Amino acid sequence: MATDPRAATHPLPRFPDGFLWGVSTSAHQIEGAVELRERSVWDAFTAEPGRVKDGSTADLACDHYHRYPEDVALLAGLGVDAYRFSVSWPRVNSPGGLDFYDRLVDALCAAGVRPVPTLFHWDLPAELDWRQRDTADRFAEYTAVVAGRLGDRVGKWITLNEPAEHTLLGHALGVHAPGERLLFDALPVAHHQLLAHGLAVRALRAAGATDIGVANSHGPTWPASRDPADREAADFYDVLLNRLFADPMLLGRYPDGIGELMPGDAEADLKIVAEPLDFYGINYYAPARVGAPGGEASEFGGVPLPAELPFSVHEIEGRPRTDFGWPVVPEGLTELLTGFRDRYGDRLPPVVITENGCSYEGLDDQDRIAYLDGHLRALHDALTAGVDVRGYFVWSLMDNFEWAEGYARRFGLVHVDYATQKRTPKASYRWFRDVLRAQG
Ligand code: NOJ
Repeated sequence: MATDPRAATHPLPRFPDGFLWGVSTSAHQIEGAVELRERSVWDAFTAEPGRVKDGSTADLACDHYHRYPEDVALLAGLGVDAYRFSVSWPRVNSPGGLDFYDRLVDALCAAGVRPVPTLFHWDLPAELDWRQRDTADRFAEYTAVVAGRLGDRVGKWITLNEPAEHTLLGHALGVHAPGERLLFDALPVAHHQLLAHGLAVRALRAAGATDIGVANSHGPTWPASRDPADREAADFYDVLLNRLFADPMLLGRYPDGIGELMPGDAEADLKIVAEPLDFYGINYYAPARVGAPGGEASEFGGVPLPAELPFSVHEIEGRPRTDFGWPVVPEGLTELLTGFRDRYGDRLPPVVITENGCSYEGLDDQDRIAYLDGHLRALHDALTAGVDVRGYFVWSLMDNFEWAEGYARRFGLVHVDYATQKRTPKASYRWFRDVLRAQG
């Protein structure tokens, strides 16, 4: 499946000197060692029958907690500059929990790989709730604790991962933890995460950090047709999925019509939310084609959407699909990045692609190679168009617990046999290693 006629026949174009190459994971998806940490909302959710498709849990996952030396060796063998992982808040709350990240960061530094921790990747301590404003203050306190312990070796920090998905899937649609189906009443969850982000940026700066960003998911929104009803619906979808988090963080305001629905003192809160960032992380997977409600059955990333939403998501036809069913649209990344530059102008700090990847079965994963090759060319096109992009992280180093999909979706460059915990590098691992070598 070659998505770009340049693929395979031409080497990838050269990226700028100092461009940061990496891979990403998250704590809940790989660590296991559930008995050595407090419970998170994901543990509670997973325990409810029917929530995770294959009935699995992340209690063991990839057992990375115990096998991190082997995984750091895989990173070193790959030749990445950096590794994006997440710190589990419930583990930090447990006695000795931070020691694990101390060991991991030391091992990364010894291997010459820059640690890039994300402070929140969806595994909220079970006793907390993003509907409560207080959770934002707790997050700032936790951030200060982690920064105090790791800040001597960690330079680059990410506050939140994909708060839009966490809000939509976890609190509005109820298909992720904590499983609430609040629809638009979930908006305070978004506001409190935004506030948490701003407070965490302040806490990190107070601890001396100078390279701070976020990892927001974004994708172009394509109206299903020229019909004004489809355009209006697509615009609304774009507000919810793209602008709800980017506008407050980068412009210090909510998109029109949203601010009134938010709790708290908007004026004072937005000043905190818009703390300047040193980089803006973007997770990109695919665009969305969106139309007026009704008509064909509509899904968001494989999740059926309720009919009462004011939009419907349509299939993007004529494109290869990943095993997850997501369309492969590399040029959507170029469109997204140039669109961001145009919308946010000099309010947009340098961009880092903090996630990009695909789920495919098999060790000889030529489809994944084609996907990544196509997206790197599209990323380079954005650089040529003048967008300041400073790094690219593949999701993911290894197969892992894909949330409500369980272990059925494999996003890794490295295959994990969950029965034996054996790691086997896939063809895409060797391909990415060779790309990194060629880039020098
Ligand atoms: C986004 C999330 O950050 C990550 O946890 C997830 O596994 C990937 N996308 C793939 O769905």
